[in-house]
Amino acid sequence: MPTTTPLSTPVLKKAIDRYYKELDEYKGRADYELAVRTAFLNLLAETAHQVKWMLIPEQTIEGGIRPDGVLRDSFDLKRGFWEAKGPQSDLDKEIARKIATGYPLINTIFENTKRAVLFQNKKRAYEYDLQNPKAVSDLLTQFFTYTEPDIATFEEAVQEFKERVPELARALLAIIEREYKLNKKFITAFDAFAELCRQALDPKISSDVINEMLIQHLLTERLFRTIFDNPDFITRNVIAAEIEKVIQALTSRVFNRHEFLKSLDRFYVAIEAAAKGIESWSERQHFLNTVYERFFQGYSVKRADTYGIVYTPQEIVDFMCASVEEVLQREFGTSVSEPGVQIIDPCVGTGSYMVNLLHRIPTHRLKYKYEHDFFCNEIMLLPYYIASLNIEHEFYTRIGEYESFEGICFTDTLELAEGRQIPLFVEENTGRVEREKAAQIMVVIGNPPYNMGQKNESENNKNRRYPVIDQRIHETYAKDSKATLTNKLYDSYVKFFRWATDRLQGRDGIVCFVSNNSFVNQIAFDSMRKHLLQDFTQIYHLDLHGNVRRNPKLSGTTHNVFGIQVGVGITIAIRSSWKPERKVLYYRVPETWNKTEKLNFLVEKANITYIDWLGLQPDEKNTWLTEGMHPEFVNFLPIGTKEIKVAKGVNAEAIFKLYSLGVVTSRDSHAYSFDLTQLRQQAITFIDIYNSAVDALKRRGKEIAPMSLVDATDPHIKWTRQVKASLIRLQYFDDFWNEERYQQHLIFPILTAEGENCVIVVSDHGHRAPFSVLATNIIPELHLLASTDAFQCFPYYVYTEDGSNRRENITDWALSQFQAKYGSEVTKWDIFHFVYAMMHHPQYRERYAENLKRDLPHIPLLHRKEAFLACVRIGKQLMDIHLHYEHANEYPLKWIENHDAPFSWRVEKMRLTPDRTAVIVNESLTLAGMPQECFQYRLGNRSALEWVIDQYQVSEDKRSEIASDPNNLDDEEYIVRLVRKVVTVSVETVRLVNELAQAVKMEDWMSETMEAN
Ligand SMILES: C[S@@+](CC[C@H](N)C(=O)[O-])C[C@H]1O[C@@H](n2cnc3c(N)ncnc32)[C@H](O)[C@@H]1O
Repeated sequence: MPTTTPLSTPVLKKAIDRYYKELDEYKGRADYELAVRTAFLNLLAETAHQVKWMLIPEQTIEGGIRPDGVLRDSFDLKRGFWEAKGPQSDLDKEIARKIATGYPLINTIFENTKRAVLFQNKKRAYEYDLQNPKAVSDLLTQFFTYTEPDIATFEEAVQEFKERVPELARALLAIIEREYKLNKKFITAFDAFAELCRQALDPKISSDVINEMLIQHLLTERLFRTIFDNPDFITRNVIAAEIEKVIQALTSRVFNRHEFLKSLDRFYVAIEAAAKGIESWSERQHFLNTVYERFFQGYSVKRADTYGIVYTPQEIVDFMCASVEEVLQREFGTSVSEPGVQIIDPCVGTGSYMVNLLHRIPTHRLKYKYEHDFFCNEIMLLPYYIASLNIEHEFYTRIGEYESFEGICFTDTLELAEGRQIPLFVEENTGRVEREKAAQIMVVIGNPPYNMGQKNESENNKNRRYPVIDQRIHETYAKDSKATLTNKLYDSYVKFFRWATDRLQGRDGIVCFVSNNSFVNQIAFDSMRKHLLQDFTQIYHLDLHGNVRRNPKLSGTTHNVFGIQVGVGITIAIRSSWKPERKVLYYRVPETWNKTEKLNFLVEKANITYIDWLGLQPDEKNTWLTEGMHPEFVNFLPIGTKEIKVAKGVNAEAIFKLYSLGVVTSRDSHAYSFDLTQLRQQAITFIDIYNSAVDALKRRGKEIAPMSLVDATDPHIKWTRQVKASLIRLQYFDDFWNEERYQQHLIFPILTAEGENCVIVVSDHGHRAPFSVLATNIIPELHLLASTDAFQCFPYYVYTEDGSNRRENITDWALSQFQAKYGSEVTKWDIFHFVYAMMHHPQYRERYAENLKRDLPHIPLLHRKEAFLACVRIGKQLMDIHLHYEHANEYPLKWIENHDAPFSWRVEKMRLTPDRTAVIVNESLTLAGMPQECFQYRLGNRSALEWVIDQYQVSEDKRSEIASDPNNLDDEEYIVRLVRKVVTVSVETVRLVNELAQAVKMEDWMSETMEAN
């Protein structure tokens, strides 16, 4: 720990005298906590001053805890805590209460002016009688000279290291920022280094990221020196040496690095002691992996997320490396050990693939391979260090001499595709990058980051854009896609697939990645699948599952090999130009297997050879997994297609010309309300905050980063992508209340359109909740019927944006198809109603469930005219009751009043009884006799009735604290009436759907040539 200055006895005595005097002044006048604690506060503050600590009153610390005083040392590190209680309080009880809330007990005084209890190292250490000046003096001495003991075990040390990293990092950050103002040498060194980073890593790199590197370096460099037994690390490593120069400048004035780092002794001693006991290298590596992950989890959480900081389990690394070796031998008659077989890991992390592959090379070949054929890149400093050390250590243990590994580059792999020819950091690094670029890569292997940018724009954590790679994705994976939303194609892992494929530069070779595997079956990746099969001749995909969002019964931590939420798979894509036929080979491990079972499977199988691969037959839409799909579906009439939507003219081969997703506000709590006055107020506040940011930015001009002017945590506004973009354009707030409105301005451009127009809202492909459909004449939102899914709207009419020029949106092509089949009297409204009915047909939904997940609905023409007419009639009835649900009769539910409670209409949160026969409206009223068929009418995952129960409740948005209250004082009975009407609508819908199933059978659309199973 940092040295502590001894306390001077006379000064202490004076302070204690003053303390008693002050306490005396309160006596008899005010002896409650708030009054008397000032005396102790002054005593502590004064004594703290002596040892160069500082008392900070009422500061909220981790876990929302707010001690009466936090004592911080000159590095701003927390050294002690103080909690005061009133003289009348039962101190032991109060202590127990505090401990239960997780109060820190590192070095903590609890006192009530009579007694003090001192906790140290999480134990009750001493008690003092505060009426005795000698005891007060002992207490202060014990408190202010306390240093925390070394941590006993490795696990504890690593855990505590993770917990303390944020605090240590913040302390260093404050020092860096201070020195950047006062220390000329440091300013020059920092700026020069920043310029290098800009050229080498990211032209837009912020000083935060550079600060972070300095912090990572300062906090971990000792671990590498000692654990790897590599005392010269910081001089040998080309990047570390460069950073050292900046650190030297940082410490040239007042900052004493040695002194600061002493505060880490207690972690390091334990970690180092534990590392000494580790015999095998793989255990030591495991230890480093832990440091790698924990450091980022504890500190750069956002960047860890963006770059995918998680190490790859050894079993996966081993399986992939063994498979690559197998394919090299089998397909190309060569081997990892063969000179000239050049290999790259573009996202090296801790270097696990490189080390594993080097391990496979016979010693006599190792030097050549190490010097010529192995390459890897890393963008983050800490893993870059770890990878260098790991790889160099592998070489050292095999050959017995140190040789720096020239194949590793500190660079952004995706940036290399941009073809910039500039110095990349230091000369050595530039040279390395040039050498790497010239290499004839045959194998790309690794575990690319899977993050698709931030969930929330206010996080300022978006993935970076790469013009060249993004353009390549645009012209290949996106161009031929049938999907409406292709943003998933810009996920990092997809960029790495594109980069890796292009990096083979047309030669034969292998790309082997473990990654998010949404590309295997999601519709947005149809064109990516198509291109993969053009770029490669054989593609193996081992599906390791773990998609928690698709199967909520799974848990990320238990079932997913990376502990994440998205599905994971190993892809081995092979290009062998002498093999013309294309193959996709797929194997799926059981979905319910936990992580260990999956990893054991990989160990057991060792490489791709022993897996029972299933040959897939991709269909013409580039679907690989066609299980459960029925081929006749694609021959039915599509309700909409992407090509037709953008084509000129209306005479296209789909039922509807235009369709659109529902609107996205990205600020629902601000943009929706049951109360018009409240809504207006919310909007005004939001707009005011935003517009004043525009004013401020205008005043400050271009020299300031726009987001530095705003408080992204202000709950009254949400800084979404589009709000930020508008700020940067200095655009005042007018028409961008919605984040995305898609084509809704052509469907409901003006209020009157909401009366006359009507849209059929259906689940978009890729839905997770069951397929759903609903008609509405009000602007719908993107997730109308399920929060997990997007919904597409098919309008009857479309307009120009000013509300004029109303046109029917059903194509003439569709009309001619129907008229040819059923006669010229068929109208476009008939078609609209027919489509609505067919999408409610139970057999249609069941048979085509898998097709509907991958495609927009296709609607069959029915053989019999009576069946068609029945469908039109029932479709119209269904649409009428759904559009006019507020006019439905109130279902005669049984009215049960509870006379023990005063009668009220007010709804806080309604509930269904467990047997689902009644709705408890509130304490005073229950509506019973619920007909059970009303639960059969389901929209997404809920019945219509459950939607009403869920949506009509009093709630509060956590972030903005905006309350939502569905009760309307001018019409108190509304919600109860609504419940009864929705029951009628549900029962009626179920009746009509049953009638439909009777009137139209599957034979009505199936023909003999279609498979009838
Ligand atoms: C999932 S980890 C790889 C783990 C590695 N296989 C291991 O076992 O340690 C991904 C790594 O890629 C790095 N990375 C992410 N984007 C990168 C880029 N554009 N260029 C280079 N490295 C990148 C991250 O910093 C991270 O260390």
